Amino acid sequence: MMGIIWGWTAAALLLLLLSAASADPNDERCLTHLSQSLQDPLRNLQNWTKSTFANPCQGFTSFLEGAICNNGRIYKLSLSNLSLKGSISPFLSNCTNLQALDLSSNQLSGPIPPDLQYLVNLAVLNLSANHLSGDIPQQLALCAYLNVIDLHDNQFSGLIPQQLGLLVRLSVFDVSNNKLSGPIPSSLGNRSGNLPRFNASSYAGNKGLYGYPLPPMKSSGLSVLAIVGIGLGSGLLSLILSFTAVCVWLRVTDKKSENDEGKISQLMPDY
Ligand SMILES: *[C@@H]1O[C@H](CO)[C@@H](O)[C@H](O)[C@H]1NC(C)=O
Ligand SMILES: *[C@@H]1O[C@H](CO)[C@@H](O)[C@H](O)[C@H]1NC(C)=O
Ligand SMILES: *[C@@H]1O[C@H](CO)[C@@H](O)[C@H](O)[C@H]1NC(C)=O
Ligand SMILES: *[C@@H]1O[C@H](CO)[C@@H](O)[C@H](O)[C@H]1NC(C)=O
Ligand SMILES: *[C@@H]1O[C@H](CO)[C@@H](O)[C@H](O)[C@H]1NC(C)=O
Ligand SMILES: *[C@@H]1O[C@H](CO)[C@@H](O)[C@H](O)[C@H]1NC(C)=O
Repeated sequence: MMGIIWGWTAAALLLLLLSAASADPNDERCLTHLSQSLQDPLRNLQNWTKSTFANPCQGFTSFLEGAICNNGRIYKLSLSNLSLKGSISPFLSNCTNLQALDLSSNQLSGPIPPDLQYLVNLAVLNLSANHLSGDIPQQLALCAYLNVIDLHDNQFSGLIPQQLGLLVRLSVFDVSNNKLSGPIPSSLGNRSGNLPRFNASSYAGNKGLYGYPLPPMKSSGLSVLAIVGIGLGSGLLSLILSFTAVCVWLRVTDKKSENDEGKISQLMPDY
């Protein structure tokens, strides 16, 4: 009898320990802060409540819309096309087992937190089609397993960090349609050896961006022509103007001398 009671107690204690172990305080912190930084006007994020953050996973089962679990940890977050607003919390970096982050096709604004560098398992980063801005953080180069960086259709500005060229696993890189400027680092534009290469479509639609593999800048070529044209045009105009001025001046002096002649002739005594 005593043995059975002890057995049950031990089993209950074990269960308690197991369920406690399945809740990860880092994931809880990550999800809590992320949900605070996001706005969800259409209420698409089901179960994204405080009580679920404390225990979002049971083994491979997730209780959160858009989250995929692996061994009790948040493994993927796929929150694409959910009309989400707000910004990306730096505490997202506390989801240390995160392998894929897809926040594409929302209305997120603000920067990419450089803290994402602590997501050392991150392989897929898709933030495309949002209103994100600021620099692309060079620290992303520390996520050594990254093989997809898709940032197209945002408002990122500044230079493309050449450090991103260090990501040897990178097979998709798309920064098209942003406000990036400066030269494309050759570590990305002209990758060496058998590293996957990215063509011009990865870089198109950035006004100030130039260099291989983009075609020579058309807009700047045109403006150079325009400048030459304006220069030639204004030169010609001033030539015509000064020519006219000289002509007018010659006429005036001509008339004057005629008049003077007249005066002289008037002054001339008649014989
Ligand atoms: C929300 O959580 C409950 C249990 O906590 C679960 O039964 C339900 O399936 C979850 N809903 C979604 C959409 O994951
Ligand atoms: C995005 O969501 C809207 C509304 O939920 C839907 O009509 C549209 O097809 C979705 N777009 C994509 C690309 O999934
Ligand atoms: C969680 O993320 C924040 C922001 O990046 C960081 O300051 C903090 O150290 C992280 N916590 C842990 C336990 O890693
Ligand atoms: C990123 O997300 C967009 C929109 O959801 C999708 O069209 C695109 O294919 C994704 N990028 C990659 C590299 O999978
Ligand atoms: C690309 O790199 C190769 C070898 O490093 C070099 O020979 C070539 O000129 C480069 N091409 C461009 C367009 O920069
Ligand atoms: C550029 O690369 C993408 C895939 O990375 C491909 O779909 C597209 O056809 C390529 N464009 C050209 C002009 O080669």
